[in-house]
Amino acid sequence: MLSRRRLMVLGPSLGLMATLPMAMLPRQAMAGSARIVSVGGALTELIYELGAESELVGVDSTSLFPQAATRLPNVGYARTLAAEGLLSLAPTLIVATEEAGPPTVLRQLETAKVPLHVLRADHRFDGIVDRTRRLGELLGRPTQATALIQRLQKDWAFSQQTVARVAAGHRAPRVLFVLSNAANQARIAGADTAADAMLTYAGAVNALQGVQGYKMLSPEAAIAAAPEVILATTQGLEASGGLDGLLRLPGLAQTPAGQRRRVVALETMEMLGFGPRLPQALQKLATALHAGAGRTA
Ligand code: HEM
Repeated sequence: MLSRRRLMVLGPSLGLMATLPMAMLPRQAMAGSARIVSVGGALTELIYELGAESELVGVDSTSLFPQAATRLPNVGYARTLAAEGLLSLAPTLIVATEEAGPPTVLRQLETAKVPLHVLRADHRFDGIVDRTRRLGELLGRPTQATALIQRLQKDWAFSQQTVARVAAGHRAPRVLFVLSNAANQARIAGADTAADAMLTYAGAVNALQGVQGYKMLSPEAAIAAAPEVILATTQGLEASGGLDGLLRLPGLAQTPAGQRRRVVALETMEMLGFGPRLPQALQKLATALHAGAGRTA
């Protein structure tokens, strides 16, 4: 006879899961027994950090790290999911953050009675601690989660010291974050974005004031923001055709940053994912933003 654990592993692929009454399904995974789909690069990274990667059966396209995750079946971009792709992987657990969507697809998943856990997506270090703890519970790995949280807290304290050191002795640089992954769709980040949170953590000032969320980049907005540094993602820089291409985006060449070609770029999910690499990303970002920028005053 199949053990409960064996049934959980084989069930979905044999089509058995659909025939089990919902009451019989575990509300959360037992370690080693789940078919997990992770929607969000930061969650995927945490799943690897917690040692549960063998239970991952699918990821979204922001799951770029570790590289092994990119070889898993892909359910598309977290913000534009399709229910069919997700359900075809017969997951016993889908974890996502509030950034996942569209809402209609999330509702479809709920209707399909797939255990879907939407974790808060707040852009704070404490948010990572919360997500780690919650994932530890969901994956049946609370001890690993506690150990990871302790390591992250230590790394975070160290990165705070780095920020204080590199930011000392000059005023905070004004930085404009430009998201330009899709051609001709460059956006700039206002308040309540991951980019804004990273700028604040790095001891910089978001040059785009008075805007909530993202807005399309325009010459007027860029010139009014008058950034001393332009912050981009490495993917965005590449999609724009390198430094020269990026500076051809509306208005950027007319800003102080554009005139001095002061552009800093970090990998998208490392910088904005708010996953376990945040402490290291913050150190890199702060060091790059403060190098030279503050002295232009
Ligand atoms: C299919 C192509 C993509 C499109 C059309 C797209 C579109 C967008 C849009 C419109 C936003 C702004 C959301 C808002 O207004 O709050 C956004 C944010 C974001 N995207 Fe994408 N994106 C794409 C691919 C990607 C990929 C491949 C990644 C990961 C490498 C990614 C990572 C992010 C992140 C991290 C944010 C949040 C930034 C923040 O809060 O500061 N995107 N994307």
